[in-house]
Amino acid sequence: MALRNPLAKLSRSALSQSAWRQTAATTLSSYSEQRCGLATAVPPVTQDATGSKGPTAMVFLNMGGPATTADVGDYLSRLFADADLIPLGRLQSYLGPLISRRRTPKIEKQYAAIGGGSPIRKWSEYQCEEMCKLLDKLCPESAPHKPYVAFRYTAPLTEEVYQQLLDDGFGKGRGGRAVAFTQYPQYSCSTTGSSLNELWKWRNRLEGKRVNGGVEPSGTIQWSVIDRWPTHPGLVEAFARNIEETLATYPEDRRNGVVLLFSAHSLPMSVINRGDPYAAEVAATVHAVMQRLNFSNPYRLCWQSQVGPYPWLGAQTSDTVANYVKKGQTDLALIPIAFTSDHIETLFELDQEVIHDANSPGVKRVESLNGNSVFIEGLADLAASHLRSNELCSHQMTLRCQGCTSDRCLEQKKFFAGAKEAALVR
Ligand code: FES
Repeated sequence: MALRNPLAKLSRSALSQSAWRQTAATTLSSYSEQRCGLATAVPPVTQDATGSKGPTAMVFLNMGGPATTADVGDYLSRLFADADLIPLGRLQSYLGPLISRRRTPKIEKQYAAIGGGSPIRKWSEYQCEEMCKLLDKLCPESAPHKPYVAFRYTAPLTEEVYQQLLDDGFGKGRGGRAVAFTQYPQYSCSTTGSSLNELWKWRNRLEGKRVNGGVEPSGTIQWSVIDRWPTHPGLVEAFARNIEETLATYPEDRRNGVVLLFSAHSLPMSVINRGDPYAAEVAATVHAVMQRLNFSNPYRLCWQSQVGPYPWLGAQTSDTVANYVKKGQTDLALIPIAFTSDHIETLFELDQEVIHDANSPGVKRVESLNGNSVFIEGLADLAASHLRSNELCSHQMTLRCQGCTSDRCLEQKKFFAGAKEAALVR
């Protein structure tokens, strides 16, 4: 879809000055070509290992959510089977199905209460498609950019998307470039790590050694990874603007006293103590957003969605809100800081439980990023820098957690780090 006003959607604040100037120039030239009827037709997706740099597959990774209440059971059974997300030790294959079966009726009711399913697929596909349109203008050298969304626990699953890539002409002797772009801005081995382990597993099964008589085939998909982006300016700007919009709804004389409560999904303490970088990266996002807001308000970071009897990282969001309200602090703005779109944790847990239970009109939630154009421009800016850098993944990804003993993590990281950096993986 051509932009009706090619510059209306570009924000100087979301992009660096030079990137913005380049975007504007590229967009303008493409726009004028289209007006003159000279627009180049987008080539079909065909791959040639020795050919041009495009097309490029942009693959968004996320956990996903059940599209309908009937999908909840399958979703939960995959989720509780994932030892990267919910480590249950040797009892995983026994406890996982047991817990998921027990929780299914309750979670089905929650999805029914938010309209019958998760909106995460709708938003992920929209964000990826819009980002690819911007990327075609920002990076014509790797265009066309083809949008894909791969979920960890529900359709479209990683294996389905990998097969789709092969069907679309990538890999299998034809080469081609694909970028695995995590939609968890802050890295955790439970989330991005789990998705990458799954991607690596299906790559081996569908076009790796396993299907080529134990020999690494040539002409496979060339993967690179955007593995974390907790302080990217586009992300920070989008959060800051949404917070400012919510603050503007409070009377002026109370505005500076509103407490900003950043809320992120919690993790079991066993994962934190293993050395997972997530908590530190979430804190980095919070600090960057507060810096952008000139520390205009008091703030705290709290953690939500704990399940099961084991200790999880706190303080819990629900307790935090209840405690502040009890102390007389009834102006609170909740900010979902680790999600890039709405799902059950915002629409049900925050809106229908935490805020409902607070029973105070001053307790509000800041809107999720969803279709936010500043955010999507930020995604495009980040992806463009990655495509131009020729970096396979961040240096940070080459280091395993201090307490990690997983061979799967080791081999996955060596694969994505590439031959040159594989020796750095520890
Ligand atoms: Fe973090 Fe394996 S658990 S690298």
